[in-house]
Amino acid sequence: MFRSLLLMLLWSPAVMAMGPVCKSLFYVPQRVGIVDAYSSGRHVAPALNKYGIETVHVQSEKEIADPYFASTFDPSNFKTNVINSIGDIVGLVRRLIREKVELIIPGAESGVLLADELAHGVGTRGNPIETSSARRNKFDMSERLRSLGIDSVKQIKSDNWERTRIWIENHGKWPIVLKPVQGMGGNGNHVANNMKEAERAFKKLIGFRDSEGRILTEVLVQEFLGNLTYDSEYVVNTVSFMGIHVVTDVWRYHKYKVEGEGVIYSWDELLPSRGELQEKLIAYNHKVLDALEFRNGASHMEIMMTERGPILIENNARLSGASGARLTELTIGKSAVDWLVESIVGTAGFINRAKHRYKLKKEGLIVFIRTPEPGTMDSKLFDKVKSLSSFAEWVPYHKDGERVEKTVDSDTLVAEILLTNKDQEQLHRDLAQILKIQEEKGFLQY
Ligand SMILES: Nc1ncnc2c1ncn2[C@@H]1O[C@H](COP(=O)(O)OP(=O)(O)O)[C@@H](O)[C@H]1O
Ligand SMILES: [Mg+2]
Repeated sequence: MFRSLLLMLLWSPAVMAMGPVCKSLFYVPQRVGIVDAYSSGRHVAPALNKYGIETVHVQSEKEIADPYFASTFDPSNFKTNVINSIGDIVGLVRRLIREKVELIIPGAESGVLLADELAHGVGTRGNPIETSSARRNKFDMSERLRSLGIDSVKQIKSDNWERTRIWIENHGKWPIVLKPVQGMGGNGNHVANNMKEAERAFKKLIGFRDSEGRILTEVLVQEFLGNLTYDSEYVVNTVSFMGIHVVTDVWRYHKYKVEGEGVIYSWDELLPSRGELQEKLIAYNHKVLDALEFRNGASHMEIMMTERGPILIENNARLSGASGARLTELTIGKSAVDWLVESIVGTAGFINRAKHRYKLKKEGLIVFIRTPEPGTMDSKLFDKVKSLSSFAEWVPYHKDGERVEKTVDSDTLVAEILLTNKDQEQLHRDLAQILKIQEEKGFLQY
């Protein structure tokens, strides 16, 4: 009913005349709408503004529920902020047409579905609306891969513990993973080692309010992929234009399992773009992007290397978060943000430039500082790492004097430290030094 109303509206001659539909696919938009320009998505508007392209912000929720997202929003980068206060998609589409928006992209994870709907409604370049949920919903994305004959994670999605328990018994292997179907930032992720832990996690997740403010009614339960040292996860970040994918950065993640909770970041290692492993990951990444009909925009894909080969953890239809883009600026000289902006302003030569594979001028990694118990932030305690020869920058997650809770997810991390060095051995010696200080609880006042 709603969709047919939308279709009627969009096909009405008046709206067609007003709208920026039917342009050449290579058009350079003069005004771009960014849905939820938070986290790393906040860097896109200022970069577009430098090219004289105006930006309009679309806020997917009346109030920005996620405190981290709210803290990264800068309305001054935008001509206007259009707030989706009552979920009136038709109204939003009309407003964006009136604003002469010619391209709509998501900034952060919370904007992915709405950006698809609005791009479809306004008629701009984007990704097919029919497969939208396979680019956001973790259950749908892996089921879509399976239906196309691509190996994917074994899983069940359920609101019923008894049904879930039977699935887990039949699966017969521990550990297993329980998580929200549309989670982000590691919120609500659990690794369970036995049925008691699984039941507790399941019951905790039902009714759990996720970071976008949704109350969960179903839990996603998956086989555990990878190894128990939590260092077999990789990331391939890409920017796509008309189905051509450019690899902007490839990473190996080293994670850490918090007792009774999920896994969190420990350190992320930037990899060269070429190598036997990279070729496998990139080939798999492109196969998955095509299966998910991901044709335009930035993507951040998490892949587990397993005995069966690479298997998708999740694809995020947006830029990678944290300081990844910054580290690539320091080590490669060009980030996914730069590539995304190029895919918007330099469309004509993009396909040719897309043959490019990046080269590392320096090695680089990001260390995520965690705490096993609550403490108080004191930035002076980080002075001791600033003299390390690989030290580049650091990003505190809290203000001085603030209480920091035990780290259980991305929101409760203490800080990020960016290291770069031409000498890989020195880089790893400096990493070891930081991990030792962390082990000795040297980064917070306790
Ligand atoms: N099925 C799985 N097997 C092994 N590890 C998993 C699995 N699902 C999630 N994880 C781990 O938990 C992390 C967070 O899960 P993910 O689904 O990416 O949630 P989020 O949206 O919060 O990032 C992953 O990056 C991975 O390290
Ligand atoms: Mg993830």
